[in-house]
Parts: sequence; C-alpha cells; structure tokens
Amino acid sequence: MCGIVGYVGNKNAQDFLVSGLKRLEYRGYDSAGIVTVSKNGEATLIRAKGKIVNLEEKIAKEKKDDKIGIGHTRWATHGEPSEANAHPHQAGSIYLVHNGIIENYKDLKETLKDFKFESDTDSEVLAALIDSFYDNGKHPLVNAVVQALKLVKGTYGIAVISKNNPEEIIVARAGSPLVIGVGKDETFLASDASALVGHTKRAIYLNDGEVARLTKDSIEIKTLNAEPVSAKVEEIETNLAAIQKGGYDHFLLKEIMEQPESLVETLRGRINAETGVVKLGGPGLTDTELRKIKHLIIVGCGTAYHAGLLAGYYIEQFTPEITIETVIASEYRYRQAYIPEDSIALIVSQSGETADTLACLREIKKQGVKTIGIVNAIGSTIAREVDGGTYVHVGPEISVASTKAFTSQVIAMVMFGITIAQAKGVRAGALKPYVDEIVKMPEEIRAVLNEVNDSMKTVAGNYKKYEHAIYLGRGTAYPTAMEGALKLKEVSYIDANAYAFGELKHGPLALVDDRFFEMVLLPEGELYEKAVSNVQEVLARGGHVVIITNSDEFDLEVENVVKITTSLKLFAPILMNLVSQLFAYYMTVAKGYNVDQPRNLAKSVTVE
Ligand code: G6P
Repeated sequence: MCGIVGYVGNKNAQDFLVSGLKRLEYRGYDSAGIVTVSKNGEATLIRAKGKIVNLEEKIAKEKKDDKIGIGHTRWATHGEPSEANAHPHQAGSIYLVHNGIIENYKDLKETLKDFKFESDTDSEVLAALIDSFYDNGKHPLVNAVVQALKLVKGTYGIAVISKNNPEEIIVARAGSPLVIGVGKDETFLASDASALVGHTKRAIYLNDGEVARLTKDSIEIKTLNAEPVSAKVEEIETNLAAIQKGGYDHFLLKEIMEQPESLVETLRGRINAETGVVKLGGPGLTDTELRKIKHLIIVGCGTAYHAGLLAGYYIEQFTPEITIETVIASEYRYRQAYIPEDSIALIVSQSGETADTLACLREIKKQGVKTIGIVNAIGSTIAREVDGGTYVHVGPEISVASTKAFTSQVIAMVMFGITIAQAKGVRAGALKPYVDEIVKMPEEIRAVLNEVNDSMKTVAGNYKKYEHAIYLGRGTAYPTAMEGALKLKEVSYIDANAYAFGELKHGPLALVDDRFFEMVLLPEGELYEKAVSNVQEVLARGGHVVIITNSDEFDLEVENVVKITTSLKLFAPILMNLVSQLFAYYMTVAKGYNVDQPRNLAKSVTVE
C-alpha cells in the first residue's frame, strides 16, 4: 500500500526520492508525488496519477538540486486516484505525506473552516491541522506536529517538511511503519527498509507513539508526551540482489524459482536430519509450556491464512490432544470468540504489517494468550509485538502474489507443531516421516520446478480463453487448492474458486459447463480413490479437467495431466502448489497483464 520516502543530506533529494519510490512500487499504488525544498525555501511539488514513470517524466522537466525532500506512493482510500489527491499535500508553508487513515478527519475538517481544501483526502486535513498550529513558523514544526497528532484518531506514518526551515523532516508513527536510515551527513526515511538498501545498512525502526526530528546529522526521537527515546540502531540485512529481478522477467517467477533456497533458509539450524529433532529458539516456550498446549489459533489474511489452514491439517495428524482453529484476521478481530485455556496463537504474516492481523494480535494478547509470530519481514510491527516467533527468512518478497512465503510459512508452522508433539512425548518414530520429508523438500521442490516449468507454459496457454476456474482437492490438497485459486484470480483475473471435493455435489457441480475449467489436485494416499470418483463426476458432466498428481495410476481421459515425480508422500500437495503457482504466472504472462503488480491489490495491506 502507500509508501513514504524522505531525504535530508548533501545529495540530490529528487534522485533518492524517485529511486526509493521505485523500490516501494511493489507494495501497490495508483499515484505518486515528491516535494523538495531549496536552501532559500523554494518548494518544488510534483505529483502524477498512475505509475512512477509518469512522475519521472514530469520531474525531468523540473529538475532541481535540492537537498531535502519527501515522497509518497498512494493507494487510494479516501478520494479517487488523481493528481489532486496524491501526496505530498501542502498547507501554508508545510508539506505532508501520510500512510494510514485519519478516522476523525471529518470532525477535524469542521474546525478548519478557513482552509481551502483541494483534495478529498483525510491526509490533507492533517496537513491543514499541523499548519494551523505551526502558524507560519511561529512555533517549532515538531511541536506543531505533536499538537496536531494529539487530536488525531486513526493510524499514521507521516513525514512533514516546511519551506521555512529546509533542514529538518519531522516524522511520526502510529500503526504505519517508518524506518530511519542513518547515513554519514545524510538521513533517509522510508516506510519499508527495501528503499534504503544500497544507501545505508543502519536503520532505526520508529515505534508507535514516537515522533522524530531528522536533520542530515542528527536524529532526535521523543514520544508524543515529550519523553526522550534512546533509539536502537539495527542492521538492514537485505542486499541489493534480493530486491532485483536477477535475470528473470518478473519477480513472481524469480520468487517461485527461489523456493529451493528460501526453504533452506527457513530450515537452517532448526531441524536435525539425523536425530529428527526440531528446535526453535524464537518462540521462547519451555517444554512444560509446549506440553500444556491444548489449542492453537492460527491467524492470517490471504495466502498467510491458507498457509495456516494447511499447516493445521498437518499438525493435527501428529500432535495429540490438540484442537486447531485457523481464522481470517479481518473476521476474527470482530468475533466474540472464546479462547480456551492453554491456547497459543500463531500470527502468520509475510509483511508483518497487515492491519487486520496486527489488530487480532493485539486483541488476543489482551486476553492473556501467548502469541507466536510466523513472520518474514524482520523488524516488522507484528514481529516486534508478538511474545515470541519464528522468522521464515525467505528474503524480500516483492511480487504482490505471495509464493515462497507460503511454502515456508507452512513448514515453519509444521515445525512448531513438531516441537509441541516432541514435548508431549510423541515417539520420534511417529514424527520421523514428517521430518524426513521436510529435510528432503528443498531438493524435491527444485526437481519439480525443473520438471514442470516448460510444460506449464503450454498448459496455461490452453486455458487462456476461460473466465472461470474451479480448484478441487481433498484433505491437505483442499487448502492447497484454495491457495492455487487465489493465485490464479489475483494475477490473471480469472474468476477462480476452490472447493473441497466432497462439497462438489452440494452446489459447485451445477457450474460445470464450457465456461469453466477444473483444476484438480490429486495426491496419492487414502483419499485418492474418492477423489478419482469425484473427477469422474466432473467428466460425466463435460468438465474441462486438468489433473495435478504424483500418481502413476491415474488413467482417466482428461484434457491435461501434470505429473510430478517426487518421493514425498505427506507433503506432495506443497509440490502441487508449485504447479499452481507456475500456472497462474504463465496464464498472466499469456494474457499480458501486470504480473508483479496486479490491479487494485497491494502487497502489504496496512489499512482495514
Ligand atoms: C495481501 C497480499 C497477499 C498476502 C496478504 C497477507 O493481500 O497481496 O499476497 O497474502 O496481503 O499479507 P501478509 O503480509 O500479512 O502475509
């Protein structure tokens, strides 16, 4: 969603701002803008609807060598995507960029009768409010910002500069992340550390309720109540290669293909192939605490939710005396759900910033339930607020559609489940098949990707003309089918829905006709025969069936069989999901859509 960048130093601010905004493009946006201020207080505000190239074209006509500025990519919430609604917003001598939502903006607007509003945004109201306290430089800008924020209800990450003092940027955060990059005679700002990579490795993550005054050689952080904060400088681990396409046409394909390596990172130091023992340091639970667990709540949105569903199917197979409930964060936060004693909550999020997931985390914590993060983005809000956690360590995921994170989230949760089972005294022999397959999985993933990559291009091409798809599976193949359908719809815009095969006769079978194709995940195992019968039911109604299977037995006449060769039995559905990922990718390429930034979507959904 919206992105923020800022710069104060001795270099050209426009250059950093544009390159920083480009790094944040993956988050999803529909307009962009920057403002820079010269030494003698002349501001250059440039905004454009649409992609950053549009902004760059305008900047090329107004090139400046200013040394301070702020920039923004906007994902519309209040007001349509347009130049007037794009940030930065100006009010008097100040300029503001804002991520988040000002909930009481209408009430605040009422108090600003003299201000001539030019946009429909809540953010412009905040700019006007700050300006009213700033009173054209009669008060320090930082004080004006604090006074205004004390009246605000909602979420924000903001950066503010003034023409009166082009040496300082004031930033503040409540619910929307901001990272300050510490340089030599220069200070950077971004809503996501990836914009800082290559400029500095030293970062300060601002906390909620903090305000900072940035100059090129100082960073002063206080709370809104004026208590000084001693900031912790942390190292940014990401490197440039991790945020570049590395020879691939799209990040989505790169991230699908990276899975053999990214999963190795998830497993590193956590699983002993010889003894079969899994050890996770991050959750910080003793064996006694693990033994006591009776209930797991798994919370996530989108792909993270599907990862939780799939992990739940596995964990209950080998962990005795446990119930598992996987919930959609945006629903769960408003339910009156009872959480039984001896529960643990797994909070699953690639970005660690998803607003609904974060809200659930806070609600669950209030009830005294221990929370464990299954998070990718290091230093993210969820990672910082959970009681303990296991980072999945897959590196930056840039494409909006989540792929490598899914695989590693499932396995990280299964490993957590194994630690519970170990503590509960489950024999090593019973857990061994799971551990053995997890250890082998990175190489099995590599083999399957090689095996099916070329053929998926052709298979996807065959189904380009369809507008509807039904994904079907049983057991562990069912949540996997849900994830496959999500992948297809989010990038190729084909209307795709997943059903548990057993539900077919309760409704979806009525859909089968020439407008639909059916993607069937058919792993070997005890449900195989039942699923084959279901396939026959679809074929009997003239279905256009594609089968993804690891079985050599399948002999029905269907339009396409994608056979994967693997020694994995329990986790074969995870390998089938690679096929779904590639299918969605090649379908989108065939249709000529924007692969990495699908319309209307954002990588990190930081508003409700
Ligand atoms: C967005 C992304 C999805 C992601 C979901 C949850 O919708 O486009 O790919 O699965 O948010 O994100 P999280 O960062 O919490 O895993």
